[in-house]
Amino acid sequence: MTVKEDLVRLQSEAIEAIASTADEASLDKVRVAFLGKKGSITAISASMKDVPKEDKKAMGQALNAARTAVTEALDARKQALQDEADAKSIEGLDVTMPARSLPTGSLHPLTIIKDRAIQILRRLGFALAEGPEIETEFHCFDALNTPEDHPARNESDTFYFDSGKLLRTHTSTVQVRTMESAKPPIKIIAPGSAYRRDEIDATHLSVFNQLEGLYVDSDVRLSDLKGTLEFFYRAMFGDQTEVRFRPHFFPFTEPSFEIDVLLTVKGEKPKWIEVAGCGMVDPAVFDAVNKSRGDSAYDPATTTGYAFGMGLDRLAMIQWGIKDIRLLIENDIRFLSQFA
Ligand code: DAH
Repeated sequence: MTVKEDLVRLQSEAIEAIASTADEASLDKVRVAFLGKKGSITAISASMKDVPKEDKKAMGQALNAARTAVTEALDARKQALQDEADAKSIEGLDVTMPARSLPTGSLHPLTIIKDRAIQILRRLGFALAEGPEIETEFHCFDALNTPEDHPARNESDTFYFDSGKLLRTHTSTVQVRTMESAKPPIKIIAPGSAYRRDEIDATHLSVFNQLEGLYVDSDVRLSDLKGTLEFFYRAMFGDQTEVRFRPHFFPFTEPSFEIDVLLTVKGEKPKWIEVAGCGMVDPAVFDAVNKSRGDSAYDPATTTGYAFGMGLDRLAMIQWGIKDIRLLIENDIRFLSQFA
C-alpha cells in the first residue's frame, strides 16, 4: 500500500470515528489518535523525510489536505456537540416567558421636591449658590444682625465645635457668603442642610433641609417678594393655592413675615401651614457685609433686597400628606417605593 493510500484510509477512518463520538472527551481522544504527537497522521508526516525528492511536493499536499479535512471535521463535530448540550440544558424551559421584574430605584421625595423648587425658581432668574455647613458665628449670627444674647445662639439650641465654629442653624449664612464675594445685583437660591439641637419628633429633626433665597438690587420692593413667593407656592402646589403673609420678627429682615399655605386634605378641615420666613433685608446686614468686604458695595442708602428661607422637609410633607417627618430619614423601602 502506498503512503498516499494510507493517508486516504486514515482520513476516512478519522471522519468515521469523529461522526460516532457522543461527547467532547471522546472527540478529543479521536483527535489525539490521529493528529496528536503520536497520532497516525502525524506519524506519516514524520516519514516525509524518506520520501523521494520528486514525490515530496505531492505528498506534502496530500498530507495537508488530510490534516485540514480531519481538523474541520473535528471542529464541526465539536460545535454540533456543544449545540446539542445547549439545547438539552434548556429543555422544557419556556424561553418566551416574561422575565421576573427587577425593583427599580427612585429619587428620594426630598430630592424630588428640591429639584422642583429649584426648577421653578431658576425660571424666575435665581442662580444656585452654596456655602459651608460648618460655619463661623459671624456668618450664622453676627452678620445677620443676631445679637450675642439671642436664644438661637444658646448652647442648648446650636451644635458648637471646640474651635468656636458651629453647624449652621439655617441657610441664611449663604446670604452673607454670597454678598461677601459678589457685588449687587444678586439673585440666588441656596438649598442645603441646617442643624439644630431640637428634640426629634413628628415635626422636628436635628438635621433638616432649607432653601434660602436672596435678591438684592437698587429697587427691590416688598411687592416683588410677595409676587415671587405667591407664584412659587402656586407653581408648587397648584393655581388655587392660598398664600398668607403674617407679620413676624427676624433679626436680619425688616419688615419680616412668616408665610402660611392653606393646606386642604380631602376629608379634613383646611389648615394654614407655616412654610417659610421672609422679609426685606435689614440695612444692618448690608452694613456688616460692607465691613467684611472693606468697601461700600452694599450702600444701605441705595441698596434694597428681599430674602426668604423655606423648609424643604415641610414642602415634602405638604406635597404628599406625610404626617411624620421621620419617615424622610428612616430609609424604609415601604415608604420610599411609593415615589418610584
Ligand atoms: N433663617 C430663618 C429660619 O431658619 C428663615 C428665614 C426668615 C430666612 C426670614 C430668611 C428670612 O431669609 O428673610 O428660621
